[in-house]
Amino acid sequence: MAVRYEWRGPVSNPEVNALHAEAFGTRVFDESEWDWADLVHRHSLGWVVARDGAALAGFANVLWDGLVHAWLQDVMVATGARRQGIGTELIRNAREGARAAGCEYLHVDFEGHLSRFYFGACGFTPTNAGLLALQ
Ligand SMILES: CC(C)(COP(=O)(O)OP(=O)(O)OC[C@H]1O[C@@H](n2cnc3c(N)ncnc32)[C@H](O)[C@@H]1OP(=O)(O)O)[C@@H](O)C(=O)NCCC(=O)NCCS
Repeated sequence: MAVRYEWRGPVSNPEVNALHAEAFGTRVFDESEWDWADLVHRHSLGWVVARDGAALAGFANVLWDGLVHAWLQDVMVATGARRQGIGTELIRNAREGARAAGCEYLHVDFEGHLSRFYFGACGFTPTNAGLLALQ
């Protein structure tokens, strides 16, 4: 079955929390701790849901400044579904969603080992970026 991608598609908290734990090696948060459905509706420009049948194969969150800048966060593909182009397609859908909303730039930051994914497969260009830990 072909993987389906949906901008602002329906997604449940337990399935995103399970995918997040798998992707980032965290414990599985429950929805009282991390209520994705509520948070993305209140704070995101959009999000991309990838489904292989009923199963959640991937997810990407797109935040924004309300005008021209959008940022990727929580790009994740299920372990058993990696290296099949799903991550690239998530980003392509995120890019189209942000562009359709009038954004001019899509930002991302990532660890060095993902350079081939973001620069090679997804078409990002290198830039300087910075980060301050607030806690
Ligand atoms: C990063 C991630 C989203 C990539 O998803 P994916 O569906 O496997 O990516 P794709 O199949 O579209 O990869 C396309 C190309 O990107 C590169 N790439 C993908 N994952 C890579 C990795 N882990 N290391 C190095 N290159 C990678 C490869 O060139 C790949 O092409 P190839 O498979 O023909 O070699 C996925 O590995 C993931 O969920 N990782 C854990 C969470 C994470 O780190 N997210 C990113 C936070 S910034």
